[in-house]
Amino acid sequence: MTEMSEADRARDTAIAADLEDPHEILALILDPKRRGTLHPYLHRLREVAPILHTDQATGRPAWVLTRYAEIRDVLRRPDVRSDERGADLFDVGPEGHHFVDMQRNTLLFLSPRKHDHVRELISRAFTPRAVELRQERVQTVVDELIDRLAPLGRMDFVHDFAFRLPMAVICEMLGVPPDDLPQFYDWAQDSSRRAEIGGITDEIVSRGERATLGYADYFMKLIEDHRRAPRFDLMTALIDTRDEEGVGLSDEDLVGGCYILLQAGHGTTQDLLGMGILALLQRPEQLEFLRQTPEAIPTAVEELLRFDTSVQISQRVSDEPFQLGDTTIGAGEVCVLFNGAANRDPAMFADPDRLEIARTPNAHLSFGLGRHTCLGASLARLEIRTALETILRRLPDLRLDGDAPHAYRDSLFLRGLDTLPLRF
Ligand code: HEM
Repeated sequence: MTEMSEADRARDTAIAADLEDPHEILALILDPKRRGTLHPYLHRLREVAPILHTDQATGRPAWVLTRYAEIRDVLRRPDVRSDERGADLFDVGPEGHHFVDMQRNTLLFLSPRKHDHVRELISRAFTPRAVELRQERVQTVVDELIDRLAPLGRMDFVHDFAFRLPMAVICEMLGVPPDDLPQFYDWAQDSSRRAEIGGITDEIVSRGERATLGYADYFMKLIEDHRRAPRFDLMTALIDTRDEEGVGLSDEDLVGGCYILLQAGHGTTQDLLGMGILALLQRPEQLEFLRQTPEAIPTAVEELLRFDTSVQISQRVSDEPFQLGDTTIGAGEVCVLFNGAANRDPAMFADPDRLEIARTPNAHLSFGLGRHTCLGASLARLEIRTALETILRRLPDLRLDGDAPHAYRDSLFLRGLDTLPLRF
C-alpha cells in the first residue's frame, strides 16, 4: 500500500523524463511503490519503446504495447486472442490449480467458439435494457449507503462506499441473499490478489484456492436453489436461456459466468469510483463545474474512465504472425496491452493528462474492444453515474481528509486505491 503526495508526483515526472532505458522504465512501472505516479513512466515508455519485447511484465517473453493505435489494432484483430493460453499465466503448479481451472471456465479465457456461444447466452440475460431496469434499485442502494454515512461526517470512500455499491448490485442481480454478502468480501479480495502479476506467495495461492472453492460451492448451491424455485432475477434468466438449437449453459458455464460477473463486476467499478472521486476532489474547478452542470455527468463518467482506468492491462496471444508497423509479432507470441497508457496517448487525446469532464469525443479503451469488450459496461456506467450524481447532490461539502492521506493498493492489473479518507 503506497501513500502519494503532489511532491511524489512531481519527483516521478522529473525522474521519468530523464530515463532512456525501456527496461528500467518498465521496472519502475511494475514497482508497487509507484502506483500513484504511474503515468509519467507510461508516457516515457511510450516515447522510448512503444513496442517492447521483454519478459519483465509477466515473467515470460511478451510484447509490451503502450500506444493507442497498436493496442486498438491488436484488440480488433480476430486472430489475436484471449483464450485458455492466457489462463496459463496463473499456473503455479498443482497447489494452485482450482483457481486456474476456474479462470479457464470464464469468458475471458474460453476458446473462441465456446466463448461466443457462452457470451451470446449470458448477453441475452444481461442486455443494456435489463440493466437500465435496475436503475431504481441502484439508486436505492446508493441512497441507503449515503443515509448511513451522512451523519458520520467522515468515511473511507473505498471501504464504506466504492466497494459496497457494485458488490451489492451484482449480488442482488444474481439472487445472492443480502445476509450472504459478508462471506464474499474475503473471497473477492483473495481472488483479485491471486489474479495479479508478480509477487504471488504461497499464502496468496492458498487463499486463492480457498476463495475459488468457496465461490464454486456457493454458486452451485445457488444454481440448484434457483432451479428448484425460479425467480425474476439474472440467475434464473441465465439458467433458462437457450440458443437457437435449444442448447443452454452447462453447470460449469453457469459457475464460471457467475464468478466472472461477480469478480469483474465489483473490483473494477470500485477502483474506478475511488480514483474518479479522488481526481475530482483534487481539481476543485472541475468538481464545481460538475456540481453546477449535472447534465455533464455522462461525459464526466467517460472522462473518469479514460483518465484513470482500473483495468490497466489486457493480454492477447497471436495465432498467426502479423505486423505492427515495422515489427513482426510471431505466431503464439504474447502481447501485453497497457490500456491506461493508450488512454493517455497524446496522439489520440489532446492534453491527455488534463481531466476534462466535458471531453468529447472520448474513445477510451477502458472497456476494451472486439470479442471481449466489457459485458458489464452499461451496468458500470449506470453505477458510476448514479453514485456521482447522488454524492454531488447529497454531500455538497465533500473533501479530502487532510489528516489522513489516500493510498494505492500494490496491484497493477487492477489498479486502485486501498483507502480514500473523506470528510463532508
Ligand atoms: C469501471 C468498471 C469496469 C471496467 C473498467 C471494466 C473493464 C473491462 C475490460 C477492459 C474488459 C476486457 C478485458 C480484455 O479484453 O482482456 C472487460 C471484460 C469483462 N467485463 Fe468489465 N469492466 C468494468 C465493469 C464490469 C462490470 C460491472 C461487469 C459485470 C457485472 C463486467 C463484466 C465483464 C465481463 C463478463 C468481461 C468479459 C467479457 C468477455 O470476455 O467476453 N465488467 N471489462
